[in-house]
Amino acid sequence: MPSGPGGKFLDHHLNSPIGIAAGPLLNSKWVEAYSRIGFDVLTYKTVRSMAMPAHALPNIRPVENREHAAIATRRTQIESQPTLAVSLGIPSVEPEVWRRDVRRAKDRIGSGQVLIVSVVGTWAPGMDTEQLVQDYARCAAWAAEAGGDAIEVHLAVPDPFAEQPQLIYENIPLAAQILYRVRTTMPKPVLAKVGVFRTPRILHETATKLASWASGFVMTHGVRRRVVDEEGNAAFEGAGRDRATIVGADTWPLASRQIEEMLSWRKAGAWDRAILAVGGITTVERADHLLREGADAALIATTALFDPLFGVRFRQLRAAAVA
Ligand SMILES: Cc1cc2nc3c(=O)[nH]c(=O)nc-3n(C[C@H](O)[C@H](O)[C@H](O)COP(=O)(O)O)c2cc1C
Repeated sequence: MPSGPGGKFLDHHLNSPIGIAAGPLLNSKWVEAYSRIGFDVLTYKTVRSMAMPAHALPNIRPVENREHAAIATRRTQIESQPTLAVSLGIPSVEPEVWRRDVRRAKDRIGSGQVLIVSVVGTWAPGMDTEQLVQDYARCAAWAAEAGGDAIEVHLAVPDPFAEQPQLIYENIPLAAQILYRVRTTMPKPVLAKVGVFRTPRILHETATKLASWASGFVMTHGVRRRVVDEEGNAAFEGAGRDRATIVGADTWPLASRQIEEMLSWRKAGAWDRAILAVGGITTVERADHLLREGADAALIATTALFDPLFGVRFRQLRAAAVA
């Protein structure tokens, strides 16, 4: 393994600023495996305050992004530049299981590595805002107690209280309330996971308001789109699954533009928070570009599934640049 170029994330020294976003690392075994092959920022997949099964299979499909929708294809070969539609439903094992397992994950990673635990609140019909906020905070407290170095608060999920469909981070007062409660409930740094913003102005406004309660931002989660198969039928069976999250290669132009906007606002002195770049990073050159622009870390999800040696190649790229 080539040695990493080093890095810094909050108060932690990093072997390298490359990591895995929430999703691929399903439990401590996955965290440990990826920690041995050049990934130093390891995000434990999103967990909940109760067990929740995944949506029915298929729940991940390769897609082509077209004008009116994303089209699920039957392609089965391993892609070098994959784009996926993901409709998993954020499954979770029981808290007693993940709380023990997060501790194991923390024990198994080494120095120069950090463990982020992603959490989400679980809403059920009849619950009010306070109950949802409380659920986020409870989950975050458990994740912190179990050994997460930082807690990622997943805000790119549907806002159950909105009349028009929107995601929680688009409801700034609700997002701020959740982050505030999480931050004041447990002692670890809080990271806000956010998605696509409609305009650069909204991005700036949201980041400025949320910066009071977050130590960093993780973006861009993915792009919500309608997904159909080649015949025009629903690509994912079941109610509420006509839209899914598009991730991977095709999201790069949008995600990288947003990350660069965020980095510019930070340079302009609006606030000083960590920026963890996510979204469409399918080559080591893309990761390198965002890191040189100032991102604190570059995280991959889709590419982690197809190209597990990405972290090793990033180290080789940096070593060659120094030589
Ligand atoms: C298989 C898979 C599972 C994912 N699960 C989660 C999750 O549990 N929580 C979350 O916040 N994001 C989840 N994501 C989204 C990723 O964290 C990331 O934001 C997104 O995939 C964009 O990065 P990419 O283009 O490198 O894939 C998942 C992505 C993939 C591919």
